[in-house]
Amino acid sequence: MHVDKREKRVMQITVVVLGVAIGALVLSMTASHKSLPEPAGRIRPEDVRVTAPFDNPGVRQVGENEYEVVMIAQAWEWVPNRVEIPAGSHVTFKVTSVDVIHGFRVPDTDLNAMVIPGQITEVDVDFDEARDFTLLCHEYCGIGHHRMGADIVIVEN
Ligand code: CUA
Repeated sequence: MHVDKREKRVMQITVVVLGVAIGALVLSMTASHKSLPEPAGRIRPEDVRVTAPFDNPGVRQVGENEYEVVMIAQAWEWVPNRVEIPAGSHVTFKVTSVDVIHGFRVPDTDLNAMVIPGQITEVDVDFDEARDFTLLCHEYCGIGHHRMGADIVIVEN
């Protein structure tokens, strides 16, 4: 097959540009220790309400200034829909969905994750000061999506 010299040149440049882009992506991921998000565990959606820790959602203290918040996402609410955590805490959220894909987003924090049925999502954050946050669903999950919110209340320690 005859390939024109200029066409061959364009193909070579394309391969080099792609190689540099992929190399930059891999380098930035390894240098910053980032990886594609993986589920913290798996759980059958129909078993969520009878399987620990999701059979008892809410806040628990797991260490000095360390808390775990277990939440269930369902159309169209978070269970529980209000949590209170003392300021100065490191908090790990464990979340799963019993129905469709929801999104876990707390504006003004780094909390931003997908909540996928069958998977356990784990995200953590430090809450340094007392203030109120709103947990939003940021993945369209049906007709009640826009009102799927919860209060994250950080209280004076
Ligand atoms: Cu849940 Cu949108």
